[in-house]
Amino acid sequence: MLIILILIEYCSEGLAKEFSIYQNDEQVLDSFSQFGIILGSNITYETQTEQPCYIINQKLKNKQSEEIILVPEFKEDVFLNYYNDGKLSGDINYIIQVVQISTGAIVLSNKGELIYLKLVENSFKLADTKMLSINKEQLLKPVYMQFIINSNELLILLNGETLKIKLEFEGESIFGEMMKIYDVFLTEQINSVAFIEDLLFVASGELGLHVYQVSKRVFEQIQCTIEFKNITDLRVFQENSIYFIFALDYEKGIKVITFNAKTSLFYENLQLTNIPYRGQIIDLYKNVLMVVEEKENESIIHELQISYENNTWKLVHQHLAQKYIQDIEMTENYAIIIGQNGHEIIYHSLPIYDIKIQDKIIIPGLQKLFFLNKGESHNIQMFGVTKHKFFTTNLQLFPQFISCFYSKNDEEIKFTYHQNSTKCPNSTQIKICHFKQNYTIKFVHPILTSEQSIYVYITCIVIVAIFMIVLGLLIKEFKKYQYFVKFHNSKDSYHQQSGSQVPPTLDIYALNSFDSPMKINKQSYIPSIPAQNDQKIE
Ligand SMILES: *[C@@H]1O[C@H](CO)[C@@H](O)[C@H](O)[C@H]1NC(C)=O
Ligand SMILES: *[C@@H]1O[C@H](CO)[C@@H](O)[C@H](O)[C@H]1NC(C)=O
Ligand SMILES: *[C@@H]1O[C@H](CO)[C@@H](O)[C@H](O)[C@H]1NC(C)=O
Ligand SMILES: *[C@@H]1O[C@H](CO)[C@@H](O)[C@H](O)[C@H]1NC(C)=O
Ligand SMILES: *[C@@H]1O[C@H](CO)[C@@H](O)[C@H](O)[C@H]1NC(C)=O
Ligand SMILES: *[C@@H]1O[C@H](CO)[C@@H](O)[C@H](O)[C@H]1NC(C)=O
Ligand SMILES: *[C@@H]1O[C@H](CO)[C@@H](O)[C@H](O)[C@H]1NC(C)=O
Repeated sequence: MLIILILIEYCSEGLAKEFSIYQNDEQVLDSFSQFGIILGSNITYETQTEQPCYIINQKLKNKQSEEIILVPEFKEDVFLNYYNDGKLSGDINYIIQVVQISTGAIVLSNKGELIYLKLVENSFKLADTKMLSINKEQLLKPVYMQFIINSNELLILLNGETLKIKLEFEGESIFGEMMKIYDVFLTEQINSVAFIEDLLFVASGELGLHVYQVSKRVFEQIQCTIEFKNITDLRVFQENSIYFIFALDYEKGIKVITFNAKTSLFYENLQLTNIPYRGQIIDLYKNVLMVVEEKENESIIHELQISYENNTWKLVHQHLAQKYIQDIEMTENYAIIIGQNGHEIIYHSLPIYDIKIQDKIIIPGLQKLFFLNKGESHNIQMFGVTKHKFFTTNLQLFPQFISCFYSKNDEEIKFTYHQNSTKCPNSTQIKICHFKQNYTIKFVHPILTSEQSIYVYITCIVIVAIFMIVLGLLIKEFKKYQYFVKFHNSKDSYHQQSGSQVPPTLDIYALNSFDSPMKINKQSYIPSIPAQNDQKIE
């Protein structure tokens, strides 16, 4: 099953790229952002004497952008009161569940408080809270929350109690009418739930798979005829009223079941079913299926590729990861593995796997994660919760680039850059892309070093500033003079031709005497300017 047909595409630019770069300055020569995931790269110099250029590898980083502390005891000013002998005292509140809804997220704390975080222009705001009137003991057992899009309701499965809360997006408070549902669950028996449209799928270990239609006050159970030994996890997606259920049986492996909502019948997909990978956790993203199997000292993550047209599957890779994995979340290029001891990120759907990727994301205490744009590959927005906080973070892929620094004498340097990646630019197929590019670099002496050029900039700015001030003063003086000329001139023409139609020959005055306001002063015209005009000008 490990035989994979590797498609290869070659991509190389015809001519060598030529650059002239300054000595003693670090300069970015080229960057590579259109190649998908870069699997390997190297630089081969034509002559081995000088090697001034190097590769800065593509990097995936997360940048925490927002953090909302949801447990008041965790705020800085009161935190120390709960911190004794290097330990948090036991009765600090914590977050037990979170669910994504159409306008943001809803968090449930162990006090029974529902907290609404509203998403407004890419940023979450604490918008509303409501205390549930329930027995707090119930919150010590597992709790499941689901959002029912069709009816804008929040479904909460507590141990021995099931609630539905109407969400009012228009009203003053989002939390509307609360309804108790007759059907109740013992949540300790539940391993996983999935929810689509109005169908609730409950994986209950040895008790099997239960499916309910939840639109009414009494859940309608749909008899599932497929047998399980010990169902541990499931993923469901829906297409044209057909539901595809990927269910993981701890003993039998993966069963693939379809459910037709029109006929209410379950069918086991006999070609795809019984994929022999056993484990505790699965996740599905498009045609990529991951199964987590815990071994004595570590976990093995089986990465499978499903073909829905041909009803076939194949094993693509087996990743090694830490023990005690709680959850796994996939996007277009990555899978984020949330473990009890931190989290890891792995790339999936690669054409080759003999690479060592050292990307790390850091979110201390991460419990649960959601994506706002899974399909993106360069900048994924995520939100989630730790035990006490709500956070948002961006997972960004920074492009690979070539940088050069050269301090020796002038010389021409030639090298070839080789790169393997998952994608060639302008190609949609995922296949290995071999890219080759020749570079010719001429080093030139900078006329100024970067330090010197700063001084040049400063000097230029000062000169421009002085020039502006002088110009300003000149204009002011000129206006003063112009006003005087106008006044004088109009008086003259009035005397010469009463009711004059001829406009005063202002232009001539102005031109002739542009540079001579001082001259006017000297010619002692000033006394003739009336005092009030002078004041106006000033
Ligand atoms: C690139 O450089 C290599 C090695 O110097 C040379 O063999 C090759 O012909 C060059 N290719 C192009 C397209 O210039
Ligand atoms: C690219 O992949 C090939 C195998 O397909 C390998 O031989 C070569 O060394 C790789 N090149 C780089 C730069 O990693
Ligand atoms: C760089 O990769 C190419 C092919 O990908 C390979 O032929 C070459 O030997 C590699 N050079 C070095 C220095 O590893
Ligand atoms: C059922 O699966 C769980 C893991 O989810 C395992 O711990 C348990 O032992 C299994 N039960 C049986 C009877 O195999
Ligand atoms: C698990 O780890 C222990 C100690 O590191 C080692 O002795 C043991 O052989 C390991 N077991 C397996 C199955 O790798
Ligand atoms: C399905 O089978 C056909 C014919 O064998 C093949 O051409 C096609 O690539 C297969 N599709 C997938 C997704 O494997
Ligand atoms: C990719 O396509 C764009 C426009 O369609 C074109 O400008 C660019 O040169 C292409 N890149 C490569 C490497 O072919």
